[in-house]
Amino acid sequence: MSSQAHLRVEVNQSIVISGLSYRVAEHPALAGIPYVQRGGRGFVIQLIAPNADRMALKYFKLKYRVPDLVKVAEALRQFADLKGLRAAQRTVFTKQTHAELIAAYPALDYGMLMPWLPGVTWYDVINMRIPLTAAEGMLLARNFAAIMANFEARKIAHCDIAGANVLVERKSGQVELVDIEEMYAPNMPTPVELPIGQDGYQHMASRQHGQWCAEGDRFGAAILIAEMLGWTHPKIRQFSADEHYFATAEMQDPSSTRYKLLCEVLAERFSPKLAELLRAAWHSRTLAECPPLTEWQQALEALSEPVSARSEATPQQPLQPSQSASMPSGSVGGVVSGRRAISVHMPSEANSAQRPVPAPQSNESLKLEGVKLCRNCGALNSAQEQFCARCGFYIGTGARRPPPKPAPAPPPASVVSLSKPAPPPQAVALNRNLSEIITARRVGDPKGGGMVRVEAAKPRGEQVEANIGSTIVVGTILLILFVVIILVVAAG
Ligand SMILES: Nc1ncnc2c1ncn2[C@@H]1O[C@H](COP(=O)(O)OP(=O)(O)O)[C@@H](O)[C@H]1O
Ligand SMILES: [Mg+2]
Repeated sequence: MSSQAHLRVEVNQSIVISGLSYRVAEHPALAGIPYVQRGGRGFVIQLIAPNADRMALKYFKLKYRVPDLVKVAEALRQFADLKGLRAAQRTVFTKQTHAELIAAYPALDYGMLMPWLPGVTWYDVINMRIPLTAAEGMLLARNFAAIMANFEARKIAHCDIAGANVLVERKSGQVELVDIEEMYAPNMPTPVELPIGQDGYQHMASRQHGQWCAEGDRFGAAILIAEMLGWTHPKIRQFSADEHYFATAEMQDPSSTRYKLLCEVLAERFSPKLAELLRAAWHSRTLAECPPLTEWQQALEALSEPVSARSEATPQQPLQPSQSASMPSGSVGGVVSGRRAISVHMPSEANSAQRPVPAPQSNESLKLEGVKLCRNCGALNSAQEQFCARCGFYIGTGARRPPPKPAPAPPPASVVSLSKPAPPPQAVALNRNLSEIITARRVGDPKGGGMVRVEAAKPRGEQVEANIGSTIVVGTILLILFVVIILVVAAG
């Protein structure tokens, strides 16, 4: 049954929209289950039109059902012919335009119908470790960079570039963007919540000020282009975090091993110019300091085609996949629970503000044999470890509770080896509910001007303490409180 909040559907159920009868499609991998995708603000159901076209029916959580969605759709119409923006060909439902539909399905108020876009999300490519050939990665990166450069030339931006909002077709190289209701354009209404970027693609400045501006894609797109190219290399797939290549806590950390590895792959497999662009974006203090996306496009166009000849099956010598590393390429990662951390410490902005952009990297290659990188904070750990030495995150197979660890010192930035231990442990609250986390990524206060990262309320039972340190701190505070109360009572 449908309610104001939710539209509950069944496979083959008929939904009549503007006089046409659409059928709810079956999930391609789950027989008998309707094909519904969940995002941070709403749900998308695949429908089959009478002419057999696949369509996407999107409806929003109550908070996001605002009349401005009609204005957004009108404003988007001018961009509907742009490459990558087929999702702009949409019809928004209101009580005025679709009274019967909304009477039958109240959740569809300000919902919309748009074409179903082919392919898989970039999120799926990373999460399912789907390998790409060098030619496929280059084609995707070129097409995606061309879309982004075209936006830039028109002073518009998607503002929420992240894996779940980018659909890719490996073979044809087609790239399409979804989740375009928060796009920035001079005549676009301000969104309910200013986009602040998503884990794995978020610039440090966006966390503070949001990224609803013309430069809003510069950082997220830089990371995503670099991922598309890097993903062609087994080493990048092997050492990737779970849902995006970079772990949330290592974003813009100049000593991040994943960052150095990706620079190395870009420079050796594609071109030093692309590694330089990633370096500039990674070390930027503001979005405006990131290289314009047209520079990425030009650098990609300048690549010679024979790049495909350097197949991913024969990586450059220094990048041979490690036999001893514990995260095999092609696996989904093994760990399901506890991998979606949200309360993580980010690199200090105060320090990074003075951080000079380092000179182009040396020829020294990273040595990653016998190590694995934490999926939560990016720290280097021995392949034998089950829990990260720095943050206590579960990184191996076996028991789930981390044993107490000594606090080792941070590794130096240049040479990476296991003898350089990880920085001290931090308390990390883990959460396994993806939708809650996506919600947590998107909160801002446009009226107040400032941006706050607010986490949606989470059931207590879903939180797991990854470090006993926080338990000790809470215990100590309670003990002090108790003593103070006793003293006050005694004094009275
Ligand atoms: N037009 C579309 N065609 C195919 N899949 C889509 C389309 N729109 C959305 N999706 C899928 O639904 C998911 C959620 O949609 P999205 O618009 O990102 O919602 P939210 O605003 O809640 O994040 C996307 O990650 C994508 O997998
Ligand atoms: Mg989305």
